[in-house]
Amino acid sequence: MSHNLLQGKKGIIFGALDSRSIAWKVALESIANGADIILTNAPIALRMGSIHELAKKCNSKIITADATSLEDLNKLFSDSMEYFGGKIDFVLHSIGMSVNVRKKRKYTDLNYDFLMKGLDVSAISFHKMLQVAFKLDAINDFGSILALSYIAAQRTFPDYNDMADNKAYLESVARSFGYHYGKHNKVRINTISQSPTITTAGSGVTGFDAFFEYANKLSPLGNASSEDCAKYCVALFSEYTKSVTMQNLFHDGGFSRTGVSKDLIDMLKNK
Ligand code: NAI
Repeated sequence: MSHNLLQGKKGIIFGALDSRSIAWKVALESIANGADIILTNAPIALRMGSIHELAKKCNSKIITADATSLEDLNKLFSDSMEYFGGKIDFVLHSIGMSVNVRKKRKYTDLNYDFLMKGLDVSAISFHKMLQVAFKLDAINDFGSILALSYIAAQRTFPDYNDMADNKAYLESVARSFGYHYGKHNKVRINTISQSPTITTAGSGVTGFDAFFEYANKLSPLGNASSEDCAKYCVALFSEYTKSVTMQNLFHDGGFSRTGVSKDLIDMLKNK
């Protein structure tokens, strides 16, 4: 059900690869709430994924950009302002990738070239897009910028590997840039720490099925779905959260606040 929370607002959504992507759900929910959006992803994702199908559904333009390239980001934000005929109201950073995870390197045996690549794609890209938008003065007053994070930034999940460090950096950028952008023209910057979700990036992590199930059993509400995450993003893009900034917001069915659950105890007792 739409509440038209984003009526008249214009946004850029990074990271829709296929219909499982969290960004895909956010794009659909934003459109359902009256927004106009531009979709963007890396060139390879445009070839491998199904973003064109999403663009058709959303009646939106696609602008290719590698989120690690300042040149691409400058072009993306400039072209978007030209296309919309004005500034942008919201941006979603839904990007993550670790070469060490892909190549199954252990945390105690990281390849540092892989580490730098993953950090750039997953976390520094957030600073880059914020800096580009800031210098172009591309975001309207009280605009809202979100990135997606994971609780491995605060607690250890061994197989999440160097992505944990990338997420810690990402959340720190939201706080630090949130101060400067808030002072500049009241732009809000937050991260949403989402439950494990079955997507291309998520399923790449070793043991994903087990920690999906573990989180589901620990969380009193169960794991938060990507559809619900999209609704939360829309609320944070909207006027209803005008004073929320510099936060890492858990969207996890209560996982981050639960020590143990009866479901898990029963499971261990029955072993
Ligand atoms: P996904 O695989 O559908 O999305 C990842 C996106 O990053 C893809 O669209 C990919 O093309 C894009 N990307 C990679 N390199 C890029 C580059 N250089 N430039 C531009 N885009 C690039 O997976 P998902 O799960 O939807 O991931 C979205 C975000 O949600 C990520 O930040 C991820 O870490 C985060 N997240 C995911 C969870 C999960 O369990 N799936 C849990 C918590 C957070």
